[in-house]
Amino acid sequence: MKILVTGGCGYIGSHTIVDLIDNGFDVVCVDDNSRSTPALLKGIKKITGVAVPHYAYDLCDLAKVEELFKAHPDIEGVIHFAAYKSVPESVKAPLKYYHNNLSSLINLLRVSKEYALKYFIFSSSCSVYGNAEALPVTEHTPLQEAESPYAYTKQSGERILLDLAKSDPAFNVVLLRYFNPVGAHSSAEIGEVQEKPENLVPYITQTAIGKRDQLTVFGKDYETRDGTCIRDYIHVMDIANAHTKALEYVIANKNEENAEVFNLGSGNGVTVLELIQAFEKVSEQKLNYVMGDRRPGDVVAIYANNEKATSKLGWEIKYSIEEMMRTAWEWECKMHQKSSN
Ligand code: UD1
Repeated sequence: MKILVTGGCGYIGSHTIVDLIDNGFDVVCVDDNSRSTPALLKGIKKITGVAVPHYAYDLCDLAKVEELFKAHPDIEGVIHFAAYKSVPESVKAPLKYYHNNLSSLINLLRVSKEYALKYFIFSSSCSVYGNAEALPVTEHTPLQEAESPYAYTKQSGERILLDLAKSDPAFNVVLLRYFNPVGAHSSAEIGEVQEKPENLVPYITQTAIGKRDQLTVFGKDYETRDGTCIRDYIHVMDIANAHTKALEYVIANKNEENAEVFNLGSGNGVTVLELIQAFEKVSEQKLNYVMGDRRPGDVVAIYANNEKATSKLGWEIKYSIEEMMRTAWEWECKMHQKSSN
């Protein structure tokens, strides 16, 4: 079955392509490469032996989306990753986020409808929960006000898809709410590439390798066990595999409703300082970090109840925190080696 992966040169997209190919799917990739590199497709080829067809199109351009489906009218499912993802950047430039994340989704959906597409998997985020009333969050935990424009684009994207699913019983939607994906493929052929990803783990590894002078821990006086924010870190290959499982689930007609939501987290809440310690342990080096101010847009603590994904999708979490940090570090070291050769 042919699946269109948008944002396939990105961090989670590239790892998901590997998992889809490993499970027998045929993949077409679209990615404008504004925040990614087509070089990751070479890594995918090394791992899987497959040269994935790639279109460097901007999904905000409706004509390009039409062109894509015209070239591949046999696309049966879409996994939509392509979006901007930085919480702090979205606070500074909200319109950029609303325009990019929502116009691309709407264009994709307009054309998907024209082609009577049946399966649509959406990259959502735990940020839709805001500062949740109770932890861990289940899929029924009420969504609070979005803490950032980024989070609001995810709440809106979910709502658009739920409305569409209501209007069309043949259209199957799965909303996957990622917690904090980290790590890299164990081959170190693919991983997070952005120079300014604005996320904790790449900033830890970039500091350790010497690309950054020091890491700032955002906030030391939160009401948590050590004063730093709590998040649910999950290995990117575990996240990737959940997409394959979600596709298989809807294709096998196992979904009870034509729109379903799943939390993709490990179920463990880890503080920023605990994650730094895990990194120091696996890399056997001290990280240069300072305690700084809180970052606007951050929620205090969030972690998942993942029972729905494990029981209904048969999703199994395979990687530990140590493996997350070890693979992230191996990827950073490999990129460093390549750039110094
Ligand atoms: C947020 C979203 C998440 C989304 C991700 C995409 C929430 C709760 N989560 O993740 O769903 O997938 O954006 O980018 O909104 N930190 C530092 N120093 C740094 C960088 C980060 O201390 O230099 C801290 C942050 O304050 C936070 C933790 O590390 O407590 C994780 O931050 P980050 O990796 O940016 O991800 P989130 O903002 O949690």
